[in-house]
Amino acid sequence: MKKNFLLLLLLAPFLLPAQGMWLPLLLEKQNEKDMKALGLKISADDLYHGVDPSVKDAICMFDGGCTGEVISPDGLLLTNHHCGFSAIQQLSTLENNYIENGYWATDRSTELPAPGVTAMFVSRMEDVTALALQNVSESMAERDRQSQIDKNIAQIKVNTKKEKWEELLIRPFYNGNQYFLFVTQTFKDLRFVGAPPSSIGKFGSDTDNWVWPRHTGDFSMFRIYADKDGHPAPYQVDNVPYHPRQFLPISLDGIEEGDFTMVYGFPGRTDEYLTATAVAQTGEVLDPAKVAIRDRSLKIMDGFMRKDPAVKIAYVAKYASIANAWKKWLGEMQGLKTYKALDIKNRYEAEFTQRVEQNADLKYRFGNLLPRLRQLYKDQEPYIFARDYYSETCLRNNEILAQAASLNSLIEVFDKNGAVFFAQKQRDIAPALNSFFKDYRPEVDEAVFAAMAELYAQNTKPEWGADFVQKEAAKYGGFPQLAAHIFQNSVIPNREKLQALFTESPDKVAETLRKDPAFVFWKTLNDAFQTNVQPKLQEIQPQINLLQRQYMAAQMVVFKEKKFFPDANSTLRLTYGKVRGFSPRDAVSYEYQTTLDGVMEKYIPGDYEFDVPQKLRDLWQSKDYGQYATPDGRLPVAFIASNHTTGGNSGSPALDARGNLIGLNFDRVWEGTMSDLNYNPAICRNIMVDVRYVLFIVDKFGGAGYLLQEMKLVKGKKKKR
Ligand code: ARG
Ligand code: ASP
Repeated sequence: MKKNFLLLLLLAPFLLPAQGMWLPLLLEKQNEKDMKALGLKISADDLYHGVDPSVKDAICMFDGGCTGEVISPDGLLLTNHHCGFSAIQQLSTLENNYIENGYWATDRSTELPAPGVTAMFVSRMEDVTALALQNVSESMAERDRQSQIDKNIAQIKVNTKKEKWEELLIRPFYNGNQYFLFVTQTFKDLRFVGAPPSSIGKFGSDTDNWVWPRHTGDFSMFRIYADKDGHPAPYQVDNVPYHPRQFLPISLDGIEEGDFTMVYGFPGRTDEYLTATAVAQTGEVLDPAKVAIRDRSLKIMDGFMRKDPAVKIAYVAKYASIANAWKKWLGEMQGLKTYKALDIKNRYEAEFTQRVEQNADLKYRFGNLLPRLRQLYKDQEPYIFARDYYSETCLRNNEILAQAASLNSLIEVFDKNGAVFFAQKQRDIAPALNSFFKDYRPEVDEAVFAAMAELYAQNTKPEWGADFVQKEAAKYGGFPQLAAHIFQNSVIPNREKLQALFTESPDKVAETLRKDPAFVFWKTLNDAFQTNVQPKLQEIQPQINLLQRQYMAAQMVVFKEKKFFPDANSTLRLTYGKVRGFSPRDAVSYEYQTTLDGVMEKYIPGDYEFDVPQKLRDLWQSKDYGQYATPDGRLPVAFIASNHTTGGNSGSPALDARGNLIGLNFDRVWEGTMSDLNYNPAICRNIMVDVRYVLFIVDKFGGAGYLLQEMKLVKGKKKKR
């Protein structure tokens, strides 16, 4: 079937489920009808209920930034490989390299404690807008408004009933027009149960990241442990597996094009309601600058990692995290252009303006909004650029400077609160230094430093610190020479020296650091930033926030016929759509599913990214797929659908119309990475690993089939449509 690409683009909004990341509490009111029409077979109450057990009880925020779900009555948790990655990396050594070789516990006693990893569940949520905005008026200055809201929130927390082990979270939605309360509980004793080797869990690595067709078995498993009463508790050998109020049954029925799907999880951040000017700023100014900076640091790290396996282990998680955003920004820049985000936004704003102009009341209330917002974004642009440049070069990509920044907060504690506080902090810093140095290689960081310094000197303004960096480099005869000087003379990259320093008195620590060349370098740039950039941002940002809040509210009034979802803010959301291929450009179209055959097509023996383990090749040879095969005898690997997801949705369960687990969300397609700013239903697809592949790998590849016994597998439940 040949698809007319342009026609589909135009019709997409009508043919496909609408975009949106919806609040579970409001599903019944806002979405249930629509979802049923699209195929949902259970009720909104089954998905979310404030009192009775519901699907939401099986879903948690995993480790602060991803999503996980419980798939057994004994607290077995499924999330992505890349979400468990740093925990797995922390547990790995050259001898026991779980990143490289994978791991499967053979029973509960060999589940490995993963210190620091958390799982946060939502007990219930509530709309607290009226209380949060009590005594807040439109005419208030932003600062007064915020302090009134802070007071209100504190009061709401005092008045809300919760159990001892629960916590309360109150968050703004719709740019501060509404507030919701979440009662949560966070488990802190998680143990690593298993993961495939990287050649499966990270197959295709950075080359395939953000790209469809995809062949990654991106999953890992943990188990949640609780105290004897089933409540969250710090790690204790004799903690017991957590028994959730609800866990997810797993469907072996597979998926077909057009099937209804939902993704339930914790999307981190989107900005779907920005003006064209703001979108242009991201796509044309900030993204390109950040991409260019990371281009440099990534190439340098990659060079070192390919030469030395020990460096590879130390840097693989850091590299993956820097590379991930780098590639996403690249895709976002391109997607905004290709799919004409600015035209779409401009048309929308023109329609807004026209409607406002036609109505005296609206004109009075909203007539000035857009022009003022546009102007403020223009005013803010150089300073936002400076902020991003500073944080990318000095904090995100360069470890020695980031370390200087965190040591500085220690000295500040000393200056402010004296020696007693300092001594306390000093104790905290020992474990932090240990974990820092475990994965630190000064020679890598030195090379990155030289590159970052050069970029800073070339691309920022004299008063933001470019001048200083330029002069320093000249003093030593170039950027590499400046880097060498700093790395030879600073205590920060030197484990022994730095640890020895922290046995000294607070005065001595402060005095030494204040003279340290790396510290001085960071401090000079930071001072320039604090003096010449930060005040401007502090002046402009609140004005933007105010107008953005008003613009959000105005859109909801002006486009009464439209349903608005709140931008993602790391709170629990549900999104729904359909299993669907897509056509990103003329004559090109993608199917919705990949299989193990595709893994073998990509296989490059011994390759850094595309190697395939012998055992998986054997299973492919013998077609030993068991109950996990498709009806035509292939092994499904991944599939795509039109669910509106973002970062943070990784690890989120993909559910079928009955709420059974069919897959595990882990990514988006390249052409649609602009979806955080401009979701386009024709182009944007989320990528999930098929749960049949997950079970196949656990069972046939990993030999950990015993884990399936605690799961609830369902089959033959799907009626023919
Ligand atoms: N792009 C996905 C997400 O944003 C997956 C990232 C992990 N994979 C990687 N190669 N870095 O998190
Ligand atoms: N890979 C992302 C995550 O880790 C998901 C996405 O951005 O689509 O949450």
